[in-house]
Amino acid sequence: MIQNGTDVSFAAKCIREGGLVAFPTETVYGLGADALNPQAVARIFEVKQRPTFDPLIVHISEIYQLEMLFDDLISPLVNKITEAFWPGPLTIVHRKSIKVPDIVTSGLNTVAVRMPSHPVALELIRLAQTPVAAPSANRFGQLSPTKPEHVLKQLSGIDYLLTGNQKMVGIESTVISIEDDQCFLLRPGAISLSDIQKVVPCVYFNQSKKGKDLPSPGLLKSHYSPNKPLYILKQDIHSLPLDSGLILHHKADLPTNAPNIIYTSGNRSQIEIAANLFTALHTMEDDPTISQIYIEPVEEFGLGIAIMDRIKKAAFRYTGHCE
Ligand code: TXA
Ligand code: MG
Repeated sequence: MIQNGTDVSFAAKCIREGGLVAFPTETVYGLGADALNPQAVARIFEVKQRPTFDPLIVHISEIYQLEMLFDDLISPLVNKITEAFWPGPLTIVHRKSIKVPDIVTSGLNTVAVRMPSHPVALELIRLAQTPVAAPSANRFGQLSPTKPEHVLKQLSGIDYLLTGNQKMVGIESTVISIEDDQCFLLRPGAISLSDIQKVVPCVYFNQSKKGKDLPSPGLLKSHYSPNKPLYILKQDIHSLPLDSGLILHHKADLPTNAPNIIYTSGNRSQIEIAANLFTALHTMEDDPTISQIYIEPVEEFGLGIAIMDRIKKAAFRYTGHCE
């Protein structure tokens, strides 16, 4: 059993000594190690069973730490973005300094950095006195963790699970890439493209750079999947097989044949849906009476774009195509 609790000083000591600590952020739980210690970072890949071609996000608690991580020619856009959105759920990919170990960036010449707003995460990084490399604390390809028990279910061989009870966004940070004076959205998240466009010009990567290599392994079509089939609901909910689980985002007219229903929200509130999405999927994954899961789609605007991104990726393995 993994040692767990709220001892931030102990967690920070583990990080300083090259250990692995799972910790809460305002998006999902992360699995952290000293970003400047390649051996410690190597253990993240081992524990997560993550392929080493998939680079990690480095978490900081003070803005001056960027100077150590980004190269000397920091784009002027970075300032505007960090002033507007940090601390918060936005990750910036930018050319890296030579101080960042290659294992963190999978050998790329860029590094992804964010300053989380969760007080426990900020305190951990501050006390660790080093930037903390942390992917989401799940096994590669599986559901992201929004509760300590989700971490315990998926991971072993970590030194400490730091817990926190603040509210979380529930889905991972928005990832943007900044190249000189250009900004590209790589992964939708809590901060929407239109929020970013209010501060700097920014475009979807796919629209702007068609034909180029995948810029981020996070753009893989399949990701964040439960271990049983997940389908995006298209049919009448009354015609579902009896051993189905059903995830709805509003109170629907019942009865239905689906015996297990989880509501992420009573009235399609995007904030509630995001906060409860992964927990609902974990609960259905763990329920032995459920053989397959159906989930209601959401409208793709604002936070709904990131929510649908996660739902489509979670369902991709089973539907074989993006809806
Ligand atoms: O909210 C979050 O971002 C959470 C918490 C723990 O901070 N972390 C998270 O990490 O979601 P992870 O590893 O699950 O996702 C990081 C994404 C991946 O899609 C990765 O490919 C991309 O960021 N990424 C990291 N470094 C990159 C780089 N240099 N260039 C392009 N993409 C990069
Ligand atoms: Mg992840």
